[in-house]
Amino acid sequence: MHFKIEKKTALVMGSSEGIGRGIAESLIAEGVHVALVARNEEKLSAVAKEIGAKKYYATDLSKPGAATRLVENFVRDFGSIDILVTNTGGPARGQFAEITDAQWALDFQNLWMSVVDSLRAALPEMQKRNYGRVILITSSAAKEPIPSLTTSNGFRAGLTGLAKSVSTEYASHGITINTLQPGYINTRRIRENNWSEEKIRSLVPAGRIGEPEDIGALAAFLCSPLASYITGQSIAVDGGKMKSL
Ligand SMILES: NC(=O)c1ccc[n+]([C@@H]2O[C@H](COP(=O)([O-])OP(=O)(O)OC[C@H]3O[C@@H](n4cnc5c(N)ncnc54)[C@H](OP(=O)(O)O)[C@@H]3O)[C@@H](O)[C@H]2O)c1
Repeated sequence: MHFKIEKKTALVMGSSEGIGRGIAESLIAEGVHVALVARNEEKLSAVAKEIGAKKYYATDLSKPGAATRLVENFVRDFGSIDILVTNTGGPARGQFAEITDAQWALDFQNLWMSVVDSLRAALPEMQKRNYGRVILITSSAAKEPIPSLTTSNGFRAGLTGLAKSVSTEYASHGITINTLQPGYINTRRIRENNWSEEKIRSLVPAGRIGEPEDIGALAAFLCSPLASYITGQSIAVDGGKMKSL
C-alpha cells in the first residue's frame, strides 16, 4: 500500500506484541519511523530488530507520569511526533462488587491517564507542524460492554467521549483523533481462551478471528494525509461482531 506517510514519526504504545505490534508493522511497511513501547526490554529489543523499528522505550504505562516522559523522550529523540497510537495491556476481569480501589486506580492510570498524559504532551508538538494523527485503541466494549470486563467497559466508553471532545478542539490544526474498537483479535490474551473455530463463527459474522494486521491496515490509512477528513470517529474492526448500529 502507498498511503504517503513515509518518513513521518510514530510512537506506538503497547507494541511488543499483539495489536500494537500489528500497527507498528503496518506503519513501518509504509516507511514511517516507528518507536515501540512496552515493559519487557529484552522482548522489545528483539521485536524492534525483527520488524525494523527505529527505537524502543521500556516503560510501564501504569505508573503516573510515565506517558508524559515517554512522549517528551520521543520528541527529543525524533525531533517531532506526527503519529501517536495509545494502547496498553487489557485490565483484569471482575464483576463490579469484586473490584477493589487498588484495581480501579491501576486501570485508571493504565487505560485512562496514559492516554490523557500522552495527548497532553503530544498535541502541542503536532500543532507546531500542523500535522497530527492520533489513534486510541479501545475495544468493542466501548459500545457493547463485555461481561466481567467492568473497568474496561467504563473507561473505554469514556475514551470514546474524550476522543470526540478533543478531536473537535484540534481539527483546525491538521490533527485527527480517532478510536479503533477491536473485536476478537488473535493475540496472546485471546489465544489463552482456547476458542474453537466453531465458537468464533457463532460470534463473528466474518467467520474468523481478526488478526493484528486487520487493525494495522486501517490504522496506517488513518495515520496518512489521505485520511485528513476523518476525525472524532470510533471505528469497529470486528468482522461484524457488534450488533448495535
Ligand atoms: N485482542 C483482542 O481481541 C482485544 C479486543 C478488544 C480490545 N483489546 C484491547 O486492546 C489492547 C491490546 O490488546 P492485545 O490483545 O494486543 O494485548 P497483548 O497482546 O497482551 O499486548 C499488549 C502489549 O502492551 C504491552 N503492555 C502491557 N501493559 C503495559 C504497560 N503497563 N505499560 C507499557 N506496555 C504495556 C505489552 O508488553 P509488556 O507486557 O512487555 O509490557 C504488549 O506489548 C488491550 O487494552 C486490550 O484490552 C484487545
